[in-house]
Amino acid sequence: MDRLIPGGGSVGADYWNSRARRFAARTAGTAAGDPLLARVRRVAGARTTMLDVGAGPGRFSLALAPRVAHVVAVDASPTMGTLLRSAARRAGSANVTTVTGRWEDVEVERADVAICSYVLPLVEDAAGFLAKLDATCRNHAFVYLSALSADAFADPFWRHFHGKPRQPGPTYLDAADVLAELGVKADVEVVEVRVRTRHQSLAAAAHSYRESLLLTDTAEVRRELRGLLSGWLIADGDTWRPPLRTTPAAILHWSPTPR
Ligand SMILES: C[S@@+](CC[C@H](N)C(=O)[O-])C[C@H]1O[C@@H](n2cnc3c(N)ncnc32)[C@H](O)[C@@H]1O
Repeated sequence: MDRLIPGGGSVGADYWNSRARRFAARTAGTAAGDPLLARVRRVAGARTTMLDVGAGPGRFSLALAPRVAHVVAVDASPTMGTLLRSAARRAGSANVTTVTGRWEDVEVERADVAICSYVLPLVEDAAGFLAKLDATCRNHAFVYLSALSADAFADPFWRHFHGKPRQPGPTYLDAADVLAELGVKADVEVVEVRVRTRHQSLAAAAHSYRESLLLTDTAEVRRELRGLLSGWLIADGDTWRPPLRTTPAAILHWSPTPR
């Protein structure tokens, strides 16, 4: 995506800076009841140091902070870091430290438990990224990502407008393969997570889909997308949502080799 339209894909800090507030509003408080949180809590206690890579506005960092010794939250987007610090202050969590920068570039101390949620498919060098995660974690590493390629939703629309399939994006199976190539045998648990995407209007939905489909902004494209989306999205109160309440996600977990 980013090669087709530089800056148009979801890989850079600019992309996440401009969406940080909306993302924070959508994800705040959603870690409660999330399968990853339950899984991490089983291995994290009052003396545990945590690392959250690609923490975003911190739904997992903030939920874990009251139960652990310290959380280091790394994110490439400065706006995400600012939002996380304000939320930690509001929650009275003084044990959260933010680090701004790409995981590939930052230097942080090793932590007992590392999590990385919904970040890996955005990363070009998955092997380097995972090797660093493995090296920076003592006891348990968790990588969380969709079990569907992110393109699964957009694929029929992509075919409609571009007349050909899009190369599918990576899923947890690719992540498990990359880990295996690194000599890491991860256990995999497939879980169901709630779909929280909500669009304020059909026009807002068309805007969002137009961006992810890399379509030129013309009145005709907007009209056509609105027409297609009105048959796909479901009106839910005064918002619109995809017709799926949950989607599968995968938790990859391993214990790094002692160093
Ligand atoms: C989909 S959000 C996930 C946020 C959070 N982990 C969650 O599950 O709610 C992806 C986040 O990863 C960050 N990110 C993307 N690539 C990164 C990288 N190479 N290093 C650090 N953070 C990165 C983005 O800035 C964004 O905040």
